[in-house]
Amino acid sequence: MSYKDQIDTSRLPQHIAIIMDGNGRWAKKQGKNRVFGHTEGVKSVRRITEACAKLGVPYLTLYAFSTENWGRPPAEVTALMELLVHSLRKEIKSLNDQNIRLNTIGDMNALPPKCVRELNDGMNLTQNNQRLTLSLALSYSSRWEITNAVKQIAEEVKQGKIEPAQINEQLISGYLSTHNLPDPELLIRTSGEQRISNYLLWQIAYTELYFTEKYWPEFNEEELYRAIVEYQNRDRRFGKL
Ligand code: FPP
Repeated sequence: MSYKDQIDTSRLPQHIAIIMDGNGRWAKKQGKNRVFGHTEGVKSVRRITEACAKLGVPYLTLYAFSTENWGRPPAEVTALMELLVHSLRKEIKSLNDQNIRLNTIGDMNALPPKCVRELNDGMNLTQNNQRLTLSLALSYSSRWEITNAVKQIAEEVKQGKIEPAQINEQLISGYLSTHNLPDPELLIRTSGEQRISNYLLWQIAYTELYFTEKYWPEFNEEELYRAIVEYQNRDRRFGKL
């Protein structure tokens, strides 16, 4: 029986976040270069986005490029940025036809202007779509995001717009780049690594974590369904009994 048949569609995670890891190792295993792994990784992005939309998962957030990834060799960084521009150009019409809204989280100012233009065009085109919000985390890290939020809140306090006593969890959430997204209910990391790598640290306080040995280019619909079935079999207590 497929894992899909075991999913209770009335209890789907409303937000799935994914750390797409293992493109480089997957490519090496095939005797290919790392960029080939990223190119194959884009196919997984398409598969998993479409599968989430079809299932009825309303939010999907993908860790596509971390703040730390700027430290990779320049040729790989350039290749990833080119791949992003190329993929957006190729896929945006199909995303729009599927009623998918494109969103980004992260430091957009740090990206090459060509990427920013393509992302903005994509976000404008799809802004009214309702079925699934696909957020790409680009030049994103949680510590960057929280630092940024603290700076903004401090500025508002300085200007007398916020009283320190008003600062609560809800207010802080409103200053994060995820302010328009619910917290993830399921976080998936591929490639066998079991760490969070500066991803959505504030937002995953009660998120179920799922780690799989599969490399990202191997992660397909069935692997997604399997993760959702495991999520649904967990007992979520949110600190209560
Ligand atoms: C991790 O594999 C993957 C990345 C750093 C980038 C993810 C990017 C894509 C899937 C393609 C571009 C994305 C979009 C949305 C068009 P790794 O390089 O860290 O692999 P390794 O750990 O095996 O070296």
